Amino acid sequence: MSVLNQVFNRDALAGMKETLPAESIDLIITDPPYDVDYGQKSSFLAEMDKARDKQVERDSHFKDSFVDYDAFAIEWFRVLKPDTHCYLFCSDKQVGKWSDAMVKAGFKAPQILVWVKNKTTFDMTFGHKFPENKEFILFFQKGWRKLNGYDVERQLFRSTLYFDSNGDTEYHSCAKPTSLIMFLTKLSSEKGELCLDCFAGSGAHLISFLRTKRTFIGFEISPHYFSVIQKRLKEEKTQTSLEDLYEL
Ligand SMILES: C[S@@+](CC[C@H](N)C(=O)[O-])C[C@H]1O[C@@H](n2cnc3c(N)ncnc32)[C@H](O)[C@@H]1O
Repeated sequence: MSVLNQVFNRDALAGMKETLPAESIDLIITDPPYDVDYGQKSSFLAEMDKARDKQVERDSHFKDSFVDYDAFAIEWFRVLKPDTHCYLFCSDKQVGKWSDAMVKAGFKAPQILVWVKNKTTFDMTFGHKFPENKEFILFFQKGWRKLNGYDVERQLFRSTLYFDSNGDTEYHSCAKPTSLIMFLTKLSSEKGELCLDCFAGSGAHLISFLRTKRTFIGFEISPHYFSVIQKRLKEEKTQTSLEDLYEL
């Protein structure tokens, strides 16, 4: 069975080892778990949400919040082709951990990109830290690949990325906006190339790969999110083939 345009309901580390040959992937854009104790977060949010009359059921699906940084870095370096890019979303406390693991695995030191959101994240440190309106994206290179569309005169993009935080949070509280993922995909790959997301969540990255006419492979460990992704991909594929039909 071809693994192209498939999402697997399993641990990504074991999945990569079993299904992906060395140097088979053209681009990784992924959003690993944030090293957060969701048990603790959920009880806090439950209190706050009671006041705000909201549901926090979504957080109960976060079962695996921690990953083996070194083991993932080694696998990503193995599966990426030479001269490719890898983007990792991460929290402040993970910048050092991911950088150390990825450089040890063979990647160049990362460039830190900052995604500036149009809204502020509500969290349990409320009042004790600066309200958070950004996320880090670590940009790693295996070898050396030029970004598509780079123009030194016009400076069409910079390391600070302004994208509305309009991810489909109805599906997943960490959902990323497809506009941002499509932007990064186009800068770092070509049509038809194979893109990987190891922590697919709501499927936003996979949908972005489809919309930009790339092929993809995804992993998601939670059965709940896996079914969300399958449903969304099915709808997206129908939509995409209709668009192709109208282009004819
Ligand atoms: C931060 S969320 C990703 C959200 C995603 N970027 C989106 O736009 O919806 C991380 C996801 O990784 C999944 N996950 C955690 N550990 C995993 C593992 N070892 N293998 C595969 N998926 C995992 C979690 O269930 C969670 O849905």
